[in-house]
Amino acid sequence: MSDPAAATPPQAPITVDSFWLPRQGSTFAKEVDEAYYITLWICAGFFIIVVGAMIYFALKYKRKSDTERTSPVDHSFRLEIVWSIVPSVLLVWLFYLGVKGYANVTTAPNGAFEIRVTGQMWNWNFAYPNGEMTDELFVPVNRPVKLVMTSTDVIHAFFVPEFRVKQDVVPGMYSSLWFTATQVGDTAVECAEYCGDGHSLMLNQVHVLPEDQFKVLYDNAFEDPLHPLSPEVRGEKKYKSKCAVCHSVDGAPNTGPTFKGLWDRQEKLEDGSTITVNENYVRKSILEPQSQIVAGFPRTMPVFAGQLTERDIEGIIAFLKKQ
Ligand code: CUA
Repeated sequence: MSDPAAATPPQAPITVDSFWLPRQGSTFAKEVDEAYYITLWICAGFFIIVVGAMIYFALKYKRKSDTERTSPVDHSFRLEIVWSIVPSVLLVWLFYLGVKGYANVTTAPNGAFEIRVTGQMWNWNFAYPNGEMTDELFVPVNRPVKLVMTSTDVIHAFFVPEFRVKQDVVPGMYSSLWFTATQVGDTAVECAEYCGDGHSLMLNQVHVLPEDQFKVLYDNAFEDPLHPLSPEVRGEKKYKSKCAVCHSVDGAPNTGPTFKGLWDRQEKLEDGSTITVNENYVRKSILEPQSQIVAGFPRTMPVFAGQLTERDIEGIIAFLKKQ
């Protein structure tokens, strides 16, 4: 069966600059953290008041002799008013903070830069208005970004801890979220909904770039224009993020056939026919995999149509030819 541990372990940094929480990387972070800390300290305060009083009274009013009688005082109207009104005011305050934050987080500003996100077992795919697609998310700093998200299989959750945003990504519908990143640098996006074997592999980089750097990358298919990748290297990158969970390159058995010695190999298909692995077979297997499953393997290969550009597929072909 698939062995996700065999795939390259993802590395994505989360900067921590306070005792409790990661760095504040978006315009939401301050507000979210304030609500969190207010709730935390209210709970801590009430814990001390309630448990402290309990211990104090237990000691002070411990029955000291067999003849001692219980106090006839059984309630205090004034005290009850106080402990009803004070928590009510605090609760209404927390409700106000929550509603205000929720309204803000759920309403993207007009003109936000829109990126489509697809969750798929087990990686993220980002598609930009210029038609390019990446596995790592690139966003400009200080500019509202809106994500329109869906899943091709099961429920995932898009979570960027430094931005304090999290949203379920559900098959068959679109969900969305937005943020304005405030810190140039790298951080992590992770999947926050258990989605199977490779759940922990749905961890990837978010690159927050200054506007001018973002524009250069955006205009050059997210590759360094001075050092464009060879098709083979581009293909290897895509192999690692999209294929390595199920296809080995060292001959080891896995969910899918190994890529070792793949090119020109004769494969027997489910329907009994035989094909030779060539450009057309690989391309079709990526875009509509169920049409040509190799005999003896499960029909679990996901469809990658809409998740890889033509250039990506050419890269994967170049990479496979070398295996
Ligand atoms: Cu996707 Cu967990």
